[in-house]
Amino acid sequence: MVVLGIETSCDDTGLAVWDGEKIVVSYKTGQEEFHRRFGGIVPEIASRKHLEVLPTVFGDLLEKFPLDRIDGIAVTKGPGLIGSLLVGVKFAEALSIASEKPLVGVDHLEAHVYSIFIQEHVPFPYIALLASGGHTCLFLVEDFTKSSLLGDTRDDACGEAFDKVAKMMGLGYPGGPEVERLAKKGRPIIKLPIPDLGDSLDFSFSGLKTAVLYTLKELGKDHFPDLAASFQKTVFEILLDRVLKACEKTGVKRVVFCGGVAANRTLREALKKALEEERGVSFYAPSPYLCTDNGDMIAFLGEKRLSKGVVETPPLEVYPN
Ligand code: KG4
Ligand code: ZN
Repeated sequence: MVVLGIETSCDDTGLAVWDGEKIVVSYKTGQEEFHRRFGGIVPEIASRKHLEVLPTVFGDLLEKFPLDRIDGIAVTKGPGLIGSLLVGVKFAEALSIASEKPLVGVDHLEAHVYSIFIQEHVPFPYIALLASGGHTCLFLVEDFTKSSLLGDTRDDACGEAFDKVAKMMGLGYPGGPEVERLAKKGRPIIKLPIPDLGDSLDFSFSGLKTAVLYTLKELGKDHFPDLAASFQKTVFEILLDRVLKACEKTGVKRVVFCGGVAANRTLREALKKALEEERGVSFYAPSPYLCTDNGDMIAFLGEKRLSKGVVETPPLEVYPN
């Protein structure tokens, strides 16, 4: 089945077509330039930009891939910014009605969790470590319809912590790539706190973020590269600790790292080394393009659902959380 995927849950407008075996066309338009001066995403601006960009990008897509070759439509229905989600969902609903093609809503987190399959096959079961701007979660993934949440964000999400640390250091938005870049110039020599959440598989990054705030006030600008490197290393230690606990609890020795933060090459390499080389746990991560928000993962999971006969009738139920 050939499925069009539409993603507008946050500030990336993503459109892609999955033909059941591969991505045949993919577009991603970011909005960083419109949010940068505010130091974070402004929801109202995000939804208005989607409204401008989505029809144009869809027009471009149709020039490469005609509508009559598309068998179904998949769209992100949550979680995300409500205004942004609604733009994508209403567009998809209108397209489904006008073209008489079946429609399915896809959960954004689930789409991240299975995004690796666009690139390579991973045997089930596996542990998915999803780290993005709004979530940090661990899932036990047993097949394409069965995944269970093992641990969740208690306060700031991992990507959110990167964004806030970047803002404190006067770096640009989005913060993740900026902190990663600065960290390359420093050494991880500053000791920062690792939260003790006992046996739980949850995540907490707000204590770490606050410690960075106090430390940077104390040390001053010259030490920012070392502080960025130390923050990133501490994030790695927190992620590794939770993942190892999840492997131990479930007996599963396969890990998929996904979501926007997984685009961080330093973290990917460190996790790969610690898991695969040092502990014999298989490690996978989608390409950076597939880690940050994209239409590809929506098209992929939509095709899995639609080809099993899962179809939804408008209006779809849209959920922000
Ligand atoms: O998955 P995503 O594109 O959107 C959400 O679903 O939230 O993730 C966006 C998050 C942002 O917080 C961004 O700073 C972070 O992913 N991010 C990174 C990197 N690239 C993006 N964090 C750390 N290092 C990166 N290279
Ligand atoms: Zn995402």
